[in-house]
Amino acid sequence: MNTGHVELARAQQERWESAYVRRPRLHGVGPSRAAEWAAGVFGAAGIDDVLELGAGHGRDALFLARQGFSVHATDFSEAALDQLRLEAQREGLDDRVTAALHDVRDPLPPADATVNAVFANLLLNMAFSPSELRSLVAEIHRVLCPGGIFVYAVWSAADSCAKHWRRLEDGLAMHDGFVGRFFDESLVTELAEEWRLDETTPYDEGQRRMWRVTMTKPVQES
Ligand SMILES: C[S@@+](CC[C@H](N)C(=O)[O-])C[C@H]1O[C@@H](n2cnc3c(N)ncnc32)[C@H](O)[C@@H]1O
Repeated sequence: MNTGHVELARAQQERWESAYVRRPRLHGVGPSRAAEWAAGVFGAAGIDDVLELGAGHGRDALFLARQGFSVHATDFSEAALDQLRLEAQREGLDDRVTAALHDVRDPLPPADATVNAVFANLLLNMAFSPSELRSLVAEIHRVLCPGGIFVYAVWSAADSCAKHWRRLEDGLAMHDGFVGRFFDESLVTELAEEWRLDETTPYDEGQRRMWRVTMTKPVQES
């Protein structure tokens, strides 16, 4: 990470932390559309444990736990994770949901090929440099078992809000202190290089135009 990115990362972490303190349940209580999709995909593959990255206050982790999955949720906001843990306890789901502080710029904690499914809603479009983004996807590939599934959702470059964001370097953009990236299809394809790309679906959620991506770590790597 260069100095600029270290500072950006720190500022974004503070931004998210204070957003969650100011507004508990910031993202609402219902699941994201991507989580509903992921539950179907993981269930059909006979998977019952999920690693969720950038889980926030856990609307999707709690949803997945209610569907019977065991979920390990991580985020770099302690305030968000505290809300997640409290809600899991309140709903009696704390035996199925664990939460840990983790910045995905650091290597993922699991050992190689030990995870069956990874889910990340609106994480990959956060303030990552292109090399951080590629490293993150490589880490997810590393921890997944062969045949393991990764479902993620990101903002699309076709989002009408994209033009109102101030352009920064490295393809990032800023609005209201939050920094992120709008994905085009070529970036989705590039990140899928070592994977089997199962589907890439554009969709709308709230006022946002999104991409949902499902990809599988090949059983036999070429
Ligand atoms: C748009 S929110 C989405 C939260 C959640 N996935 C949801 O859909 O409700 C993005 C989340 O990514 C987390 N995040 C951003 N950068 C991160 C990083 N480097 N490591 C871990 N979490 C990060 C933020 O704290 C925030 O909770």
